[in-house]
Amino acid sequence: MTVTTERADATRTAQHTVDRQRSLLFPWVKPYYAEPLVIEEAEGVWVRDADGREYLDFFAGILTTSIGHCHPEVTARVHAQMKRLGHTSTLYVTEGQLDVAERVSALAPRGLSRAAFTNSGTEAIETAVMAARVFTGNSEIVALRHAYSGRSTLATSLTAHSPWRPTPSMVAGVVHARAPYRYRSPLGAEASEESQTKFFIDDLVEVIETTTSGRPAALLVESIQGVGGFIVPPAGYLAQAAEVIRHYGGLFIADEVQTGFGRTGSHWFGCQHDGVEPDLMVMAKGIANGFPVALTLARADVAEAWTSLSVSTYGGNPVSMAAAAATLDVMVDHDVPTRSDVRGHQVRTALEALQAKHSWIGEVRGRGLMQALEIVKDPESREPDPARTRALMEAARDEGLLIGAGGLSGHVIRMGPSMLVTEDETREAMARLARACRTADGAA
Ligand SMILES: Cc1ncc(COP(=O)(O)O)c(C=O)c1O
Repeated sequence: MTVTTERADATRTAQHTVDRQRSLLFPWVKPYYAEPLVIEEAEGVWVRDADGREYLDFFAGILTTSIGHCHPEVTARVHAQMKRLGHTSTLYVTEGQLDVAERVSALAPRGLSRAAFTNSGTEAIETAVMAARVFTGNSEIVALRHAYSGRSTLATSLTAHSPWRPTPSMVAGVVHARAPYRYRSPLGAEASEESQTKFFIDDLVEVIETTTSGRPAALLVESIQGVGGFIVPPAGYLAQAAEVIRHYGGLFIADEVQTGFGRTGSHWFGCQHDGVEPDLMVMAKGIANGFPVALTLARADVAEAWTSLSVSTYGGNPVSMAAAAATLDVMVDHDVPTRSDVRGHQVRTALEALQAKHSWIGEVRGRGLMQALEIVKDPESREPDPARTRALMEAARDEGLLIGAGGLSGHVIRMGPSMLVTEDETREAMARLARACRTADGAA
């Protein structure tokens, strides 16, 4: 009896919180689910809602709690730092910022020795694009269709998803080449990897030659397109794309906001799967386990070309840097690239078994602990099925599993849990997903 009353009260509280959000915030702050989830507590890969229900978190706040919610090492070092020094701005020098810069630079592909800290992936991209423009003296930026780059005016222009663009592209000189999206390639998904790479590289060349002055400042590429639905480029694409942009005098900017820090398995950064050494690289999300930290790394000569003033009030904040340093320590100690590989393989095997049972799973794709399901009406037409995707999201929630959505039509399921997720937790998550898939079988 008491339990029922407590539950009813908790439900009213959660609904009240959702109602308050709807009346207080911009409508674009749009949570998942028909009945949004109010999260109150979390630990590791588990989160608890306002009703006391627990969920296995296989989306990690958009691939951000890289070592799990409220990791004790991060919490302890943040607390300690807050007692010593909480804020300086970039007008003063702090050791913490330099330590993180040095350590990420050591993990990154060769040559990226200069760092600029900001607070979000959006800002890191703004910084990289500005640096490329200053260095080359050129202004046009080549991005890819299906890209997501953030929410500033420039970033929404670089973003190539109409649902994420509140206005028409407001920034001149941004052009988009085809995304290396094999499943939806005009060549057919079954075409060889080599022919796919050639097709998408030829398109990139044509876009530069026909829609720019022929002197672009940069090419911006996500090593795996995240919001686009974990679109993995065919082997050789990133390396050849870097050659192409350099041939035309531009710089190669790797967007590692989602793919960085071991997420894709085996390597620390996604572009390393193709052996690319970018001229600029942007990171955010997993770098500080949820603290607002973003980083742009650049070649020294590129960074040194930017001599005009710039400041970031919160960039390199000492508390954020303590979180980043603790996260890096844990990631290195646990060798997260290897963990992502092993657990990613476990997830992938389970997803392929689900695909064999449900014809509406058109493709399973991803790398490491970044795995996706593309949901289609049927495998022949490959027509995207956002309605079933939403049904699967809701069914997974009912089973106590949090997963994410993506893709141009919101028809891709994305998974990217903490890289410290255990074998048992992964097995449990996949069992919950299997039950959710059976429920989604009945969805229109
Ligand atoms: C690949 C990529 N780049 C940039 C961003 C923008 O990052 P933020 O939301 O921190 O501004 C995102 C966010 O999802 C992203 O996925």
